[in-house]
Amino acid sequence: MDYSTTKLTPTATKHPANILSNQQLVFDKNIIEHDSELNTSKLDARKINILNSPKKGGSSTLDSLPYLKELNIEIIENAQPIQFTPNINEHIHRWAPYVQGFSALFVQTILDQYRKAYHNPVILDPFAGCGTVLVQAKLNGYKSIGTELNPLLQFIANTKLNSWDVSPSYLLKTYKEIHRDKTRPAPSFLKSNSQFRADVLRNLELINGGISSLEVNTEKQKKVKNLLEIAFSAILVDCSNLKRSPCLGYVKDKIVHESTPFVLFDQKVQEIADDLRLIHWQYKDFINTESKVICSNAMAYKHKNKFDLAITSPPYMNGLDYVMNYKIEMGWMEFVHSQKDLKQIKDDMVVCDNVSKGLIRKFYQSSSTYTNDWIEEIKTNIEKNIIRRGAYRRHDMPYIVHKYFDDLYKVMKNVASYLKFGGRFVLVVGDSLIADVYVPTDLLLAKIGLDLGLKIEKIEKARDRRSGQIRSYRLRESIITLIKDR
Ligand SMILES: C[S@@+](CC[C@H](N)C(=O)[O-])C[C@H]1O[C@@H](n2cnc3c(N)ncnc32)[C@H](O)[C@@H]1O
Repeated sequence: MDYSTTKLTPTATKHPANILSNQQLVFDKNIIEHDSELNTSKLDARKINILNSPKKGGSSTLDSLPYLKELNIEIIENAQPIQFTPNINEHIHRWAPYVQGFSALFVQTILDQYRKAYHNPVILDPFAGCGTVLVQAKLNGYKSIGTELNPLLQFIANTKLNSWDVSPSYLLKTYKEIHRDKTRPAPSFLKSNSQFRADVLRNLELINGGISSLEVNTEKQKKVKNLLEIAFSAILVDCSNLKRSPCLGYVKDKIVHESTPFVLFDQKVQEIADDLRLIHWQYKDFINTESKVICSNAMAYKHKNKFDLAITSPPYMNGLDYVMNYKIEMGWMEFVHSQKDLKQIKDDMVVCDNVSKGLIRKFYQSSSTYTNDWIEEIKTNIEKNIIRRGAYRRHDMPYIVHKYFDDLYKVMKNVASYLKFGGRFVLVVGDSLIADVYVPTDLLLAKIGLDLGLKIEKIEKARDRRSGQIRSYRLRESIITLIKDR
């Protein structure tokens, strides 16, 4: 059953345990064996499924109608530049490239929208990433806090937020004094020899060795070292044979010269020094505005304060792996020392679709999970379609989808409990099409908001997007605004 062709009727909520007793199980041994017989023709089966998809040329606009009817709301068109790309030219935001971030302009639009509603609002971003929301809040003089599970991103965000008092001339002086005769070897658990040309690798090891040997006896020296580290981490992928577009992958014919590390490192340090100059000139009053990101799980972090505005973008369901995509920087900056360390961080995050099978198995065995009638119906439909198709990338997809909403429920519940009366929770998210089943992520998050006692103020469509196998299906990216009015 698919929501685009059937009437949405609330079904009895099926507990995961009941679904597991069903004959046509996601982990059913027969299905797995059947699938392995198909292995040789898997690619063809995939192509055939794409060609035969009933969703070809479809759109989330149509498939959302029954859900919207049940919520009794309409989606407002409000085109917005949400993606990070323009930030590579924005002061401070440009210190580190991060493909999954918000555009600073979008965050500013939200802050402007509520300028009259809140006086000096306190801002929260539970999925802080590289700190776009918090940096923009600080540029407005607003206090802010964030949580982020990736320690590299937490480090980047905190350095962008808390180095504003460093003098640009002191940064440049320290940079010029860096030793060029000390090396620090590339992380041994990564395939650095294939990721970098040998001469480039040697020069990166020299820059890293120089930064590592800087003396750190004062807070000021520590901040400068952090700025040089952020500059170094920011150039690593550009110096490699890889590209993030948006997933990290090898590119043919990429031209990187022996001198590239020195050239790019110099450019980045000069950029940071220029931005510090601008901060001291234009944002002096906000240098000490409290802002920080805690390396912690947004599902459980206990805050000390309440917030006026939570602005965030959770990971998207069939989106990116926020750990593997940053493994090079995480390894070089010594936030992780093995593949096992990477996996451990990933397992705690909101689930993504290349999560380990063991974690999903543990999830469906657990008895205390959030669900609702929409989630259960979507799971059943995905399960049926996977069986109909005969082959699918992940047979445990229904449970990945379920875990995604269970994870987000926990985060939303935590955030809702720290919102002040009258506070707003703004979420940006994209919806998905999984095994020909439409998943209205935005509307589901709005529904979860209702379950948590929040009111849906509005849902706006920011842009059309395409993702997943059926490229002709039009998905959307939405801004959901929830308000705590009781
Ligand atoms: C879409 S990105 C947010 C980007 C951010 N808006 C920015 O502009 O930098 C989602 C972030 O959530 C983080 N994340 C995933 N699960 C988390 C969890 N359970 N707790 C805290 N952070 C988490 C990921 O590491 C990722 O950086």
